[in-house]
Amino acid sequence: MIVTVTPNPALDKTAVVPGFTLGRIFRVAEPQWLPGGKGFNVARSLRVLGLEALAVAPLAGHIGAMVRDLAQAEGLQLDCVWFAGETRTCQSIIDPTTGGVTELYETGSPLPGEVWEQIIALVRKRLPAAQAVTVSGGFPRGVPLDGLRRIVELAQAAGVPVLLDTYGEHLVHALAAQPALVKCNQHEASEIVGHPIDEPAGALAAARTIQRRGARDVVITLGAQGAVGIDRTGLPFAWGVPSVHSISAVGSGDAFLAGLVAEQTRGQPLRCAARYGVAVGAANTVRAGAGMFERVTANALLKDVPALTVG
Ligand SMILES: Nc1ncnc2c1ncn2[C@@H]1O[C@H](COP(=O)(O)OP(=O)(O)OP(=O)(O)O)[C@@H](O)[C@H]1O
Ligand SMILES: [Mg+2]
Repeated sequence: MIVTVTPNPALDKTAVVPGFTLGRIFRVAEPQWLPGGKGFNVARSLRVLGLEALAVAPLAGHIGAMVRDLAQAEGLQLDCVWFAGETRTCQSIIDPTTGGVTELYETGSPLPGEVWEQIIALVRKRLPAAQAVTVSGGFPRGVPLDGLRRIVELAQAAGVPVLLDTYGEHLVHALAAQPALVKCNQHEASEIVGHPIDEPAGALAAARTIQRRGARDVVITLGAQGAVGIDRTGLPFAWGVPSVHSISAVGSGDAFLAGLVAEQTRGQPLRCAARYGVAVGAANTVRAGAGMFERVTANALLKDVPALTVG
């Protein structure tokens, strides 16, 4: 089983609105509501790929109850901690005519410190049965600076790899605990290294920097430019993307991580696991909604993932 932790979950609402512009009324006939906030997307994607996943998250209020109910209706396993407040809502508006995506992300209620302690306790309880732990998305206010680092230390002491797809000071603080893998997009990587990254060679240099700071394996995704990485032996790799008719890349990073961890748990080395991640990330762009892809689509795209030469 893969444990997917979401520190700041959300009700993700997606509307497909052809010709979307600001300052007008649009009527949305078929809004899509999904449990989200990254880790739920990873769990959903893992299930599509045939793996058992357990989502761990703090939830609050009516929206939190809705996230729980939607997760249950999807058949996602969930361990949650309830707290006073309200789980946030994130709205994405996709314009299929231009490919533009507009996103309104609430920041969410602050998390009381003891709630994070309970999240850590839930993760600890699941470690004996876990093949890996993923932590995805940002941290709400209230989580102590060492909140992520403690999960990394705990899991890795139990021999369970921790894969991080997060950003900000919690990630920077956790690097020293040598997480098994850090996976981020080019913008999050830019934040860590302190300069812009706009192409694969720059991303590979940033991956090396992040590895020097403590991460064992590092993968950086670059949207339609693919993904690069460096494994713990120092082996670099770079993959381009297969050609797809992309509707929305929202959640493609989460789908990528699911593909990567799925292949790693099946014994594949990082380079190959990342290649499958690219195929799954690309499959995720074909339909609206994070983790709403078909496994056959991802598998069919895999052979079309090209190796890139990064000079
Ligand atoms: N337009 C696209 N065409 C094909 N594949 C894509 C496209 N956009 C993204 N992907 C695939 O998805 C992967 C992850 O995308 P991206 O770098 O946008 O992740 P992200 O910014 O972390 O996304 P999110 O945080 O919304 O999950 C890419 O490495 C690539 O494999
Ligand atoms: Mg991401």
